[in-house]
Amino acid sequence: MTDRPETSGDGAVRFARRVLILLAHPALEKSRVNRRLMAAVRDLPGVTFHDLYQAYPNFHIRVEREQALLASHDVVIFQHPLFWYSTPALLKEWQDLVLQHGWAYGTDGTALRGKWWMHVLTAGGRRSAYRREGYNRYTVRELLVPLQQTANLCGMEFLPPFVVHGTLGMTPGQIEDHAAEYRVLVEAIRDGGVELGSLQNLDQVNDRDALGKRPRETGTDGVSNDAR
Ligand SMILES: Cc1cc2nc3c(=O)[nH]c(=O)nc-3n(C[C@H](O)[C@H](O)[C@H](O)COP(=O)(O)O)c2cc1C
Repeated sequence: MTDRPETSGDGAVRFARRVLILLAHPALEKSRVNRRLMAAVRDLPGVTFHDLYQAYPNFHIRVEREQALLASHDVVIFQHPLFWYSTPALLKEWQDLVLQHGWAYGTDGTALRGKWWMHVLTAGGRRSAYRREGYNRYTVRELLVPLQQTANLCGMEFLPPFVVHGTLGMTPGQIEDHAAEYRVLVEAIRDGGVELGSLQNLDQVNDRDALGKRPRETGTDGVSNDAR
């Protein structure tokens, strides 16, 4: 792994990690936040962007195509709005069909071993609502436990989520800030600037700056100021 893209003998730029972003939003035309997040990363060199609802509006997922995409990348980022404390339906269908026994898990199911699994998600609720004493009682990371265990079963490394909280009252400027931060994070992952060890115990990857070097400033209750 290197911090910089390398140029191979054929002149093509090679990055430290090949990143695949799977977007799942059933009504992108109405989206304020995911649309902007998408625009910040979809044209990044070395990053493959795949809009699942656009590809499969009737839920007829092409399993071999999805498996080939996963096999040819090192990191998969699931970008989606939080729906009923979970993912939009197509992403569940994607898991049910694509993560096959004998391919993703089971004795001979080793295709995904060592790859990284991460969620980039948007939530209507503020971060203060996602804690024990809050309205939603659980943190977003806790709510993602079934997905974390799915990654574990496939031998993958589960990274803390990047969460954009409080989408409903968010100003265009705030959305822009989150989009810029998302872009920096994806670039850092791609370029080998993110160390797993420094992130794994975080509740959200937003709790450090995108390069994982410096804790972000928090209020007295430990909740990031931008997420209240
Ligand atoms: C069907 C549905 C379920 C939702 N469930 C949740 C939820 O469980 N928790 C939450 O904080 N927001 C929830 N929301 C709010 C969305 O997460 C929010 O509108 C979205 O993240 C905004 O992103 P967008 O502008 O890209 O659509 C839900 C919205 C819909 C339509």
